[in-house]
Amino acid sequence: MSTSFQSKIPNSLNEHWMPFSSNKDFKKNPRIIVKAEGIYLHTHDGKTLIDGSSGLYCNPLGHGRKEIIEAIKNQLENLDYTMPFQQGYGGSFELATMIAQKTPEDLNRIFYTICGSTAVETAIKIAVAYFRSIGQKNRFKFVGRERGYHGMNIGALTVGGIPNNSKEFKNILMPGVEHMRHTFLPEHKFVKGQPNTGSELADDLEVIAKKLGGENIAACIVEPIAGSTGTLIPPKNYLQKLRKICDKHGILLIFDEVVTGWGRTGSAFAAQEFGVTPDIITMAKATTNGIVPMGVVAVREKIYQSVMDASPDGAVELFHGYTYSGIPVAVSAAIAVQKIFEKEDIFNRVKQISKYFEDGLHSLKDLNCIESIRNYGLLGGIDIKMRDKPGKAGFQVYKECYKAGLNIKPTGDALIIAPPFICEKKHIDEIVEKLRTGISNFAKS
Ligand SMILES: Cc1ncc(COP(=O)(O)O)c(C=O)c1O
Repeated sequence: MSTSFQSKIPNSLNEHWMPFSSNKDFKKNPRIIVKAEGIYLHTHDGKTLIDGSSGLYCNPLGHGRKEIIEAIKNQLENLDYTMPFQQGYGGSFELATMIAQKTPEDLNRIFYTICGSTAVETAIKIAVAYFRSIGQKNRFKFVGRERGYHGMNIGALTVGGIPNNSKEFKNILMPGVEHMRHTFLPEHKFVKGQPNTGSELADDLEVIAKKLGGENIAACIVEPIAGSTGTLIPPKNYLQKLRKICDKHGILLIFDEVVTGWGRTGSAFAAQEFGVTPDIITMAKATTNGIVPMGVVAVREKIYQSVMDASPDGAVELFHGYTYSGIPVAVSAAIAVQKIFEKEDIFNRVKQISKYFEDGLHSLKDLNCIESIRNYGLLGGIDIKMRDKPGKAGFQVYKECYKAGLNIKPTGDALIIAPPFICEKKHIDEIVEKLRTGISNFAKS
């Protein structure tokens, strides 16, 4: 071990219990990031990685953005914290107006949370509160989807559809939740963009409505593109069908846009990209360029108004909120991000480079150990053929890519590629080339 290696590694790795990590494996062979600049990360042992997953999808404008850092600094010097209950400050209102200008139709009422999980938890509660406010007290059941990921709090975990995440916690999950089948069909394996087949899978909602009684279901929640389970693109007309079935039964449609929100598809929201307007949108990640935790829930006017109208003047209308709901430091980062979106025409930029990314990603099809490739906007998924047991190949490929100088996110045997929105063609080339090296080295091992 060289001296510089040791100096950049903390004295002890023991005490920190790392989230969603193989702690034992990591602590034997740590991967420590010591610096980040633009779309590159630097490691403790002198490697440079291109950030092919924008962190956890959350740094799409790159690292070390001066405008965001300045905004945070200024905010901290002027007002570092003020409690968000029963009082406020200008920034959170200013940001809510900016967000409402970008959300579709009348999803103009903005509730702040602290992350994606708390945004989903909040959306669940708002749906129930809305139905109580209009006298439909029986509507508290929810429909999620297999292979959906909505975060790790109990409500978000229950509507999510990843068995490994919930199997230890079955006894404490939220009651009254059913799941539709996921939308990834065998014939979608190397399809570019939206598959033509599979829209009939939306009828699962109709089947569940018959089973539970449509009048008892508060909301159906889906990610328009399932992100964390490997980028599952909705079949053409699938989301439209979900919307129709929700309308038929008076069920709210929630789009979890924690990943797809703020430009990943080439539109501000996947709702606009796919031409389907939900009743509630959750967002997080790119909202602050991942620098300060923040979640956001945007709801339709009628939902907000009904909850307001159901309470007498002077009463708290919704018994829900967090110490860190819309705190100044997060809001200042988010406002700076909104300004960059505008100034650099970021969503169009994503749209323009998406085709190049699609071609690059699908050029890897010749690698034998690849089972499937999918993409939309600047979001890609690659399935690696299983080796010995689920998840092993994905983890090994991730490590090989890291060695080759590429940061990506594995989930099971799926690799998630989510390049920063500011990347250029040469960066896409570099990501694809390093994917090829990492995957080929894995195949030889
Ligand atoms: C679609 C979706 N919803 C919710 C979450 C949870 O967000 P957080 O980790 O910020 O709680 C994630 C995280 O990846 C996500 O991808």
